[in-house]
Amino acid sequence: MAILEALRERHAAECPHCTRATGHINLVFGEGSPNADLVFVGEAPGETEDQTGRPFVGKAGQKLDEMIAAMKLLREQVYIANVLKSRPPNNRTPLQTEVDGCGPFLIEQLCILRPRVIVTLGGPATKLLLATDVGITRLRGTWGTWKAPAWTGLDLSVPVMPTYHPAYLLRNYTAQTRGEVWADLQAVMARIGA
Ligand code: URA
Repeated sequence: MAILEALRERHAAECPHCTRATGHINLVFGEGSPNADLVFVGEAPGETEDQTGRPFVGKAGQKLDEMIAAMKLLREQVYIANVLKSRPPNNRTPLQTEVDGCGPFLIEQLCILRPRVIVTLGGPATKLLLATDVGITRLRGTWGTWKAPAWTGLDLSVPVMPTYHPAYLLRNYTAQTRGEVWADLQAVMARIGA
């Protein structure tokens, strides 16, 4: 899709965070169907993503692939992006200044994609899209709404289902957390009629 490619190029040339950040190898713009009903938004590329330039291809990515398959969807049918498009040093949590710099490119990406539903994976994505400081443990499982900010000039509202980040799920692989994520995904499936 030409408009997404144009955004990819503009991000690479102009992102105030990614053009100054050092230590990463590749930018990870995001990938998937430009016509996706469903967009997953993670935190930032990890080591494998940095090496390959693709989102969610490491261990957390394998878990996300399982989640997508459990929803009876193909990875190619959804779109996968992150709050940051370059890997933070040692995978640390994105800083607010980094999110302020790179986050608007995710917002533009979402304005192009206009999905029917967004799933935020973990705290940083939820914080950015729902403009909240409430923790993911409290927010997960409850629908929120992402509204395109005024600077986009678009009147766009998209339902958001916050859930745990797959890396958190892998670190806390209990019947409870697995059941919670599955319940969140089932709510999404019901909403998109999958
Ligand atoms: N974790 C993320 O949040 N995003 C990725 O792309 C990979 C791991």
